[in-house]
Amino acid sequence: MVLVDFHPPDALRGKIVTLRRYAFTDSAALKQAIAASRDRLREWMPWAESAPTDESVMSFLGPSVAQFGGDAAANYAITLRDSGDFVGGCGLMPRIGPDALEIGYWVHSAYHRRGIATESARLLTNAALELPGIRKVEIHCDERNGASAGVPRKLGYRLDRIVPDAIEHPSGNAMIWITERPV
Ligand SMILES: CC(C)(COP(=O)(O)OP(=O)(O)OC[C@H]1O[C@@H](n2cnc3c(N)ncnc32)[C@H](O)[C@@H]1OP(=O)(O)O)[C@@H](O)C(=O)NCCC(=O)NCCS
Repeated sequence: MVLVDFHPPDALRGKIVTLRRYAFTDSAALKQAIAASRDRLREWMPWAESAPTDESVMSFLGPSVAQFGGDAAANYAITLRDSGDFVGGCGLMPRIGPDALEIGYWVHSAYHRRGIATESARLLTNAALELPGIRKVEIHCDERNGASAGVPRKLGYRLDRIVPDAIEHPSGNAMIWITERPV
């Protein structure tokens, strides 16, 4: 059964970043960014435990290019608005219920603390809440991932609860941050 059928814009433009659909031509930049950022990524993201290979990059890029939203994730490349340089990834995921989307993000470690994740998550949040049928957006992050928690905090999400989740979160607990469409 399809729980969510959502169709966000192919590109979202902010002051410092442009989020856009992935293309196969992103493979080299994506591999390089993951390799350069792996020490930070692997702390929180199990998929970064092994060094990226052409195959592992394509196993993400292939489905991301083939399907964008609908009943699958809408994964965006984060690029700098002015240069177009690839600086990270983010996306909307339809896995938390029929009227809600979850946001995920990571940023190339050479570009941290410039507001890139915050602007990316803001663009995704606004786009998600404009979609028909979407009432709520969540950000899930490890209870100990203070850098990630800073993003929903800055955007005015509320910390709804902390739940056990040892599969995706190394500490064993996930913070669930929520924002809702005003009624
Ligand atoms: C989490 C992550 C995406 C943040 O990206 P970023 O672009 O550096 O974040 P921002 O610059 O938008 O920071 C937003 C706020 O988060 C907090 N924050 C970000 N990095 C932080 C750090 N290293 N330590 C403490 N707080 C931090 C701050 O409150 C910051 O606001 P400020 O700079 O005005 O003080 C990045 O650190 C990352 O890619 N980490 C590895 C992957 C990851 O953890 N992804 C999230 C999984 S849920």
